[in-house]
Amino acid sequence: MRKDRILVCDIDNTLVRDGRSTAGLNALGVILSRSRKAVRLVYATGRTFSSTWSLVEAGTLPRPDAVAAMVGTEIWLPNWRTADAGYARRISAGWNVQAVRDNLSRFDRLEPQPDRLQTEWKASYFLDPRHSRLVEVIRVALSERGVKARVLYSAGRYLDVIPFRAGKGRAVKYLSRLWADSCASVLACGDSGNDLDMLAEPGFLGVIVGNSSDRVLRRVSGLRNVYRAELPFAAGVVEGAAVHGFWPGA
Ligand code: GLC
Ligand code: MG
Repeated sequence: MRKDRILVCDIDNTLVRDGRSTAGLNALGVILSRSRKAVRLVYATGRTFSSTWSLVEAGTLPRPDAVAAMVGTEIWLPNWRTADAGYARRISAGWNVQAVRDNLSRFDRLEPQPDRLQTEWKASYFLDPRHSRLVEVIRVALSERGVKARVLYSAGRYLDVIPFRAGKGRAVKYLSRLWADSCASVLACGDSGNDLDMLAEPGFLGVIVGNSSDRVLRRVSGLRNVYRAELPFAAGVVEGAAVHGFWPGA
């Protein structure tokens, strides 16, 4: 059987909540272990690779085939020692993280996230939802200064600025090219702002889990390939995959 399907899942508030597994995650693990010959599993997450891996080692999450960490700015593959260099090269072209940080330092509503969450490809801040209109102001300010970047706002709290060639959707595209046999079907599942690009990727199927915010639900409402699950968290992933007929033999 060809491995011709890729299941892509966001982690926080899609599969786990406060670091704990959610209803439906066991069932998802069982279906996946039966479908391993045909399905690859990818986590696409805002987390670092090491915090993702600690959930795998703890047995909370099934073992993946790849991890797109740090909001799709790093790709990790077996043997899991370093991030993929080809992807790093690709997203680095035309990108200057210092220019982003310098330009955003005058926005005093932006509170920089801790240093361990800052990388060469990710400038991250906290932004109170009462000031979320700043997201658009920041996009315009960067583009007027000629700084090419993607500005993502997630979970009413996190603002990430990443290379314009990066993001969860781009990372999964890169993986699907790498696994040339996986061209048949990609199902992307998520709950928040940094998932929107992979949900909107043409040719992908999508599931937005039932616990997503109204803001995100509005943003996906026009996308015909995205199924809006009734059920929250991992149960919503199971529901959506079934509705899309994603599993082999379905
Ligand atoms: C994770 C990351 C954080 C990021 C957020 C949203 O919480 O640790 O840096 O801003 O995801 O992508
Ligand atoms: Mg999430």
